[in-house]
Amino acid sequence: MAIRIDPWSSATYGDYSKLREEFGIQEFTEEMWKDLPNTHRLLRRGVIFGHRDFHRIKRCIKSGKRWAILTGLMPSGKMHLGHKMVIDEVIFYQSMGADIFIGIADIEAFATRGISLKEAERIALEEYVPNYIALGLKPKNCQIYFQSKRKEVKDLAYLLGRKVNWSQLSATCGFSGSTNMAHVFAPLLQAGDILHVQLDKYGGVRPTLVPVGIDQDPHLRLCRDIVQAHRLFSVGLTRDGRKGIFVKVDENVEKLLGIAEDVAKSIGLEKMEKIEKYKALYLIDASEEDMERIDEELVRIESELGNLSFMTPSSTYHMFMTGLNGQKMSSSVPESAIFLTDPIEEARKKVMKAKTGGRVTLEEQRKYGGNPEECVVYQLFLYHLIESDKELENIYISCKNGDLICGDCKKRAAEAIENLLMDLKEKRESAKGSIRDFMS
Ligand code: TRP
Ligand code: SF4
Repeated sequence: MAIRIDPWSSATYGDYSKLREEFGIQEFTEEMWKDLPNTHRLLRRGVIFGHRDFHRIKRCIKSGKRWAILTGLMPSGKMHLGHKMVIDEVIFYQSMGADIFIGIADIEAFATRGISLKEAERIALEEYVPNYIALGLKPKNCQIYFQSKRKEVKDLAYLLGRKVNWSQLSATCGFSGSTNMAHVFAPLLQAGDILHVQLDKYGGVRPTLVPVGIDQDPHLRLCRDIVQAHRLFSVGLTRDGRKGIFVKVDENVEKLLGIAEDVAKSIGLEKMEKIEKYKALYLIDASEEDMERIDEELVRIESELGNLSFMTPSSTYHMFMTGLNGQKMSSSVPESAIFLTDPIEEARKKVMKAKTGGRVTLEEQRKYGGNPEECVVYQLFLYHLIESDKELENIYISCKNGDLICGDCKKRAAEAIENLLMDLKEKRESAKGSIRDFMS
């Protein structure tokens, strides 16, 4: 084929790669998903465009080790297609064997938007949870909880604050002297959400994936920094590329190096060199996998010694959906978003009015073809409406060729949206009885 076809490219992709570079996010390449037992369209199509430490999760999936997913949402209004993405991911990972935790960030909603806990509860139970169930979330190994009702999350938030100072917090989250204190506390609460799943009561130390939109990355960075700051050991590379276990504190160095040595030996490593004055145990022949096992074991030992030690969480980042009007998709601009509870007729109208990547006249469209990269309708197909990659590619090609015209294309999208919303509506009805199975 003469033209290079890349149905997964996005017009804004350039900006996303800049984001990755700026914040040290890894690219979510094909290598991340291609040998998983199953894939999901959002992973395959590059909508998930970046990650931190996803390889750790991949290893769990492939080896059948336990792992967890934690994500959270602010119950601040109606659920739209943009919110659906994370839940689609969660449901996929549930089928890959993850323990699922979904935090309803009612305290954050109160702190940042003034929504009362009571109102947040109503929104969550009437709007979000029924939609999650309708989308396919299963109660097995799944907990949906309120921040305000989970003591461990709040306790952790408080305690983890020991290793964060104001300069760091305000720089990462953009706080100023006039930010209210409940808001200031929200990132710590989010760290509590993310890390509490590794407490014994919630399944113990294990790799945890946090799938979120890219806007949440500051929280992830902060949480990862907090985790590092509490650790007694770091397991990894020196600046000149030597592998090892390094003691990060100044007390009991000898004893801690002894522990490190025992752990390394327990997984079968033999070649190692201990240099106490560098607080280091160099590991000569450890594989990447060995290093991970050692790290995980050391986290357990550190916890037993009474420290607040956790495995560093992994994360993935998805692109945002463009609003139907070409701007941001936002709950506060109803015509920009399709809500999962939109009446069918209204959703159809929204799709028919959506901004496309089509030409001004039909004649030009036939001659030059459309521009799916800049088309919101195409994005609906890409993110939500078309499961088959082949079918999607056909739309892409016939749009580019000028064979497809926007009117027909929109009709197809509108129909698919109608089907989706009708299906969800039905399933929400039957979901009502099972909400309790999810709430702990
Ligand atoms: N801060 C998130 C938002 O604004 C919600 C959230 C709370 C969250 N706790 C979390 C997201 C933990 C991921 C993980 O939507
Ligand atoms: Fe978008 Fe379809 Fe028009 Fe192409 S034909 S620009 S995909 S609406």
